[in-house]
Amino acid sequence: MVVIKLLTFLIVFIQLKSIYCIVTYDHKSLIINGQRRILISGSIHYPRSTPEMWDDLIVKAKNGGLDVIDTYVFWNVHEPSPGIYDFSGRYDLVRFIKTVARNGLYVNLRIGPYVCAEWNFGGFPVWLKYVPGISFRTDNEPFKVAMQGFTQKIVEMMKAEKLFESQGGPIILSQIENEYGAQRRSLGPSGKAYINWAAKMAVELNTGVPWSMCKEDDAPDPVINTCNGFYCDTFTPNKPNKPTMWTEAWSGWFTDFGAPIEQRPVPDLAFAVARFVQKGGSFFNYYMYHGGTNFGRTSGGPFITTSYDYDAPIDEYGLIREPKYGHLTELHRAIKLCEPAFFSSDAKYVSLGKKQNAYTYEGNGNCAAFLSNFETASAVRVVFNNRHYKLPPWSISILPDCKNVVFNTAKVVTQTSRMQMLPTGSILQSWESYHEDLSTSENGPLLTSVGLLEQISVTRDASDYLWYSTSIEISPLETFLHGGKNPTLTVNSKGHGVHVFVNGRHSGSAYGSRKDTRFTFRKRVNLRGGTNKIALLSLAAGLPNVGTHFELRDTGILGPVSLNGLDHGPFDLSRLTWSYKVGLNGETKNLNSPNGISTVEWSQVALLDHVKQPLKWYKAYFDAPEGNEPLALDMKSMVRGQVWINGQSIGRYWTVRANGTCSVCRYPGAFRPGNCRRGCGKPTQRWYHVPRSWLKPTRNLLVLLEEVGGNISRISLVKRVQAHVCASTFEHHPVIDNWQTESSGESTMLHDTKLRLRCGLGQSISAINFASFGTPFGVCGSFQQGTCHALNSLERIEETCVGQEACEVLVSNDYFATDPCPNVLKRLSIEAVCSNKPN
Ligand code: GAL
Repeated sequence: MVVIKLLTFLIVFIQLKSIYCIVTYDHKSLIINGQRRILISGSIHYPRSTPEMWDDLIVKAKNGGLDVIDTYVFWNVHEPSPGIYDFSGRYDLVRFIKTVARNGLYVNLRIGPYVCAEWNFGGFPVWLKYVPGISFRTDNEPFKVAMQGFTQKIVEMMKAEKLFESQGGPIILSQIENEYGAQRRSLGPSGKAYINWAAKMAVELNTGVPWSMCKEDDAPDPVINTCNGFYCDTFTPNKPNKPTMWTEAWSGWFTDFGAPIEQRPVPDLAFAVARFVQKGGSFFNYYMYHGGTNFGRTSGGPFITTSYDYDAPIDEYGLIREPKYGHLTELHRAIKLCEPAFFSSDAKYVSLGKKQNAYTYEGNGNCAAFLSNFETASAVRVVFNNRHYKLPPWSISILPDCKNVVFNTAKVVTQTSRMQMLPTGSILQSWESYHEDLSTSENGPLLTSVGLLEQISVTRDASDYLWYSTSIEISPLETFLHGGKNPTLTVNSKGHGVHVFVNGRHSGSAYGSRKDTRFTFRKRVNLRGGTNKIALLSLAAGLPNVGTHFELRDTGILGPVSLNGLDHGPFDLSRLTWSYKVGLNGETKNLNSPNGISTVEWSQVALLDHVKQPLKWYKAYFDAPEGNEPLALDMKSMVRGQVWINGQSIGRYWTVRANGTCSVCRYPGAFRPGNCRRGCGKPTQRWYHVPRSWLKPTRNLLVLLEEVGGNISRISLVKRVQAHVCASTFEHHPVIDNWQTESSGESTMLHDTKLRLRCGLGQSISAINFASFGTPFGVCGSFQQGTCHALNSLERIEETCVGQEACEVLVSNDYFATDPCPNVLKRLSIEAVCSNKPN
């Protein structure tokens, strides 16, 4: 009896152990339930999409071969005032994690609570700055108390919901702090003391899963230090018993208003990942896998765009970006095939040439190899295990059995999708406007003060806007009033922008940039004899999120403010009495919400006799378009402001043009932002995501605040669709071709190259714009026939593909029943049109 009881106990214990097991690690990898794993992860930040999008995003991530979803936790949205918490809607962290778990993926919870992330104030609540005696991210008691409080709150919340893997939940890893290394080095002993404290505080929370610190070489044990960057293959952890982990493999880059859009070619990203894994890296995370949208006033910076698309494998709107997504999916498959060998031994390095080498893993009957070519100009033929392999420049071939190449990072066979913003047919109607009262006296100034005040200390970031107003007396005898030149007003600001009003008229605007927020407004202004009112509307456009003690950076008009050109010489306005008012009247009246709109008298807008007026609120109604394509507002005809739909903030808009040089993508070669840019000379961001779930079937309320003046009649609601798909590849996929000719026939993976095309959900291929089997050239959207072309190319592809959701064609002479140019390596290029399936 006793024996049976003991046995039952043992069985239950063993079962429990295997289900609820702490996560550990060794030098090879994280160990979950006793198992080492190569873990593929992707960042999806929950507040940058809507809960209605989460499931789809996570399913797409899973289908893309991901094991883990990584997210930061955004303190400032969760605790907008001390002790007042918000975990609702987009901020429902528990729901997000449970959605990940339901789809069978793990979570890396990067609590921070400093997160950087191009997020307002790096994730810190603005009130934190005003806690007496505080100094951020250093050995400072008030800061440590607050940081511990929030970290503990999140950990307890996760524990209460049993979300740590040690409790049977999906969280396998957490992060404390974020990229502290540089800060520690600049702060010296207090930095060191702080990071030791942070590690100890985190570990003592007993989550049962490891903690990591990214870009902090001095991460105290047992915290794992991890790498962030475009490449991390030279990274080694600070202790031999820690696994090699890459928490931010940058899939693209973020965008600043006024700058072009950065892209990262997928062959280079795949190359970077393969370089990391071939040397023993067992965890990598794409930052971002889905970037999403900086709704509301969440973007940091300043001047980070509302779109946080990041050129990620899933685009801002939640649609798959090809060929990025597909090529990485194939890479993941290839890496997973290597897993048994990867964990049977450590990497063995073999040189194959000057810039070519191999890393092999061999043991327990398994063998996997990675063959790399770091040459940027040419393909190189190498010999590995007595076989020949041709390695394209700047690439890695993956051989999960040490023989067959199943993937090469430079050879992209995935289709390219071309997205378009198309009209929805939904009409914005019943336009009305409300002119912001420039007298600013309506609610009285918040305060008056002699001299100029720092902006955030007045607004506490409750609004982007702060009015600085003062009056000056001008003698009627001033020369400029009698035929002379108008005086010049100079306004020196620490950031981020200003709209200048003199006697209620807009005299001009000026802006800083993300790199240098300071700027000077200088312009001749119209003044009159007697009292003149100078009203400066200072703009904050996202608080800084990065840099040592970024919390100490000033915003607003700190002067000097002066008038030049008066008879008695320069006149310093900085020392006058200024009155301050936080926000616009329309904000105080909640004009952006359905409940607030009736608080003012709106005037009808005649769309044709359109007058550009600054500081104007507009409203209109529209019905939701049919279908399920993602939606956006086309704001090209406007200048700068904010938009709300049914009371939800779409974010800041600004159609400032992208300055810079856009050249053809530079690949192969080491990537850095600037290598691959698009959109020069066009508005950095023209389209603003409108989540479908924010709409009702009819009478959706659109409210916008235009700061400068634009043409509302040209604002439209558009839908994002995959309008074309392209594919282009050589006959006999060269990877496999290599085998056919050079592997002495041992390959088991030999087959004809197939070219696959697939339209989006609910779409089918309606036409073929281009098809050529021969020597076509060009890229998706501008393919051209070459000297060799099979005359029936178009006809054959039409037969196979038109009317289908997806189709597959063989890239071979047999398929076209002709060889248009014998002894020439041929390619098949296709551009197909995707349209909604007829009902
Ligand atoms: C990293 C940082 C991230 C993000 C990224 C750039 O250094 O850890 O939070 O800011 O840079 O997108």
